[in-house]
Amino acid sequence: MSLITKAAIARDHNAPLIIEDVALRAPGRREVLVEMKASGLCHTDLSIVQGNFPFPLPAILGHEGAGIVRACGPDVTRVKEGDHVILNNLIHCGECEPCRKGKVTGCVLRSELDAMPFHWNGEPLRTLSGIASFARHTVIRQEQVTVIPQSIPFASAAVVPCGVMTGAGAVWNDAKVEPGSTVVVFGLGSIGLNVVQAAAISGASRIVAIDINPGKEQVARLFGATHFVNPRDLALPLKEHLTASLGGLADYAFECVGNVDLLAQAVDLVDPFSGVCLAVGVPPQNQSITLPASTFYLGRTVRGTHIGDGNPLEDTPRIVSDYQNGAFKLNELVTHTLPLDRINEGFDLMKTGQSIRAVILY
Ligand code: APR
Ligand code: ZN
Repeated sequence: MSLITKAAIARDHNAPLIIEDVALRAPGRREVLVEMKASGLCHTDLSIVQGNFPFPLPAILGHEGAGIVRACGPDVTRVKEGDHVILNNLIHCGECEPCRKGKVTGCVLRSELDAMPFHWNGEPLRTLSGIASFARHTVIRQEQVTVIPQSIPFASAAVVPCGVMTGAGAVWNDAKVEPGSTVVVFGLGSIGLNVVQAAAISGASRIVAIDINPGKEQVARLFGATHFVNPRDLALPLKEHLTASLGGLADYAFECVGNVDLLAQAVDLVDPFSGVCLAVGVPPQNQSITLPASTFYLGRTVRGTHIGDGNPLEDTPRIVSDYQNGAFKLNELVTHTLPLDRINEGFDLMKTGQSIRAVILY
């Protein structure tokens, strides 16, 4: 039996999302039905709508959320009805060879993320990362959800799977930032702020936050930045300014805007021998980056990340427990909350740089 529920559908590129009834099938083997309680709006959802990220429409977007398990299909062992859960972007069975080797993105269940449990006007509807958090209800594999304590506000839990995990995972799982290091972060959206706070938790001693929006200085410092630079205020080129104020190049740089020119700058700001530069932002798909051939020959690393290679079994509970201990900020990321039928206003807040995370509350 299918359930009729409401969803915000991205029908066409560069058009507002529309709120429509959709049909959702019952959960199958190892799947659960989740009543969504909150969903974050991410820049990647906007990039898809704008046609800058390859993803076919129509679709139900939304790839970070939290809700309550309302029904379980056969063979569900990890969760039960009534559990509060975070819906993760990555799936982790914990049993296949890639999972056992710690390669989270290689889990054999990855193809399950493309399951299409929704129908709209009789046609199957695509979802992003198998989450569809822009729908009031969704059906998802049990290996994609993490049970959380019922005391955690849904709005704060909802931002963990992408905005938080991408930034924190890039620091902890990919760059492996070490105590005492110098870190440079371009872009202080939800991703960059979480790079800043994860680097601070890892013991980085100098964290330089860079943003063209001067309004970001205060929040960057709240999340642990020791320096703030607005490149538009500088008399010197950024590299000269930073080498002068830091006494050398950085150990780590993170590009969290999705701008290829900034990525090239970030590569140039890390130590040519041991420096590590992480490409975290998602640039428009048709753009390229050119680097000098000398970039790599002394040992510098440039690497990417997929959702911080975050593991729903270990990383999501770690962030939730750090939040409960007061060591990890989540509430401060949620600057705006809106009902589903005002979702397009949430994207406007993002475009104008007013929000860190706007969150839909169901
Ligand atoms: N230099 C420095 N900062 C910049 C620049 C620039 N040239 N251009 C934009 N920024 C800043 C903005 O002022 C803003 O504070 O980058 C920040 C980006 O924040 P958001 O738009 O909130 O983006 P976020 O959700 O954090 O995502 C960043 O990661 O997931 C991807 O697709 C996403 O590519 C995007 C990136
Ligand atoms: Zn995202």
